Amino acid sequence: MGRKVLKLGVLISGRGSNLQSIIDHIEDGKVPARIEVVISDKKDAYGLERAKRHGIEALFIDPTAFPTKEDFEKAVGDELEKRGVELVCLAGFMRILSPYFVKRFENRVINIHPALLPSFPGLHGQKQALDYGVKIAGCTVHFVNEEVDAGPIIIQAAVPVFDDDDEDTLSARILKYEHKIYPMAIKLIAEGRVAVRGRKVIIRDAKKEEWAGVNPPLEV
Ligand code: GAR
Repeated sequence: MGRKVLKLGVLISGRGSNLQSIIDHIEDGKVPARIEVVISDKKDAYGLERAKRHGIEALFIDPTAFPTKEDFEKAVGDELEKRGVELVCLAGFMRILSPYFVKRFENRVINIHPALLPSFPGLHGQKQALDYGVKIAGCTVHFVNEEVDAGPIIIQAAVPVFDDDDEDTLSARILKYEHKIYPMAIKLIAEGRVAVRGRKVIIRDAKKEEWAGVNPPLEV
């Protein structure tokens, strides 16, 4: 009997470096999942090319072709369901999903955000952190609920902010950790080790070794 593999749908709007990291981790056998489809709301998103290069179905769904946001989301949801997608991963998908979509895929949508939530939600999380003057920045993988960047947190990673950082240097430092924690969150979900209890996410059987290189350590 083969091991169960979690069926993913990945939604993107652009470059797709997080998508690439998920693909690489799956191909390396580190994450028991399979990407059934990548969907972009932007025709020229580079992530669509990345998907095709790895033999993954890549769809552009044009939001302007639908009369309402909900109609667009219904089309996206139908494509995901048609392929039996069990977990929807937002990876640089620059659109706020309406309650319709969130309810349809309740507790089955996750997102990566380039800030330590609940600080700096919304656009340009890295620049917001820099402008605020925080000394520690980072990234968050969380479940998507009906509020923006506010669902239960699965994993966070922290990075230092240096005096001479600009948006690009800080974003690059954070991105390295995005590429670690997003596949890791998917792995934990695929292994059935993630439970949501109200606002909190409980991770079963967390082992010290598997958190090496990701903040925070499991002991203080
Ligand atoms: C990533 O930094 C991701 O955290 C961010 O967009 C970038 C997409 O990069 N997402 C958001 O800001 C969502 N609010 P990628 O296309 O190379 O993965």
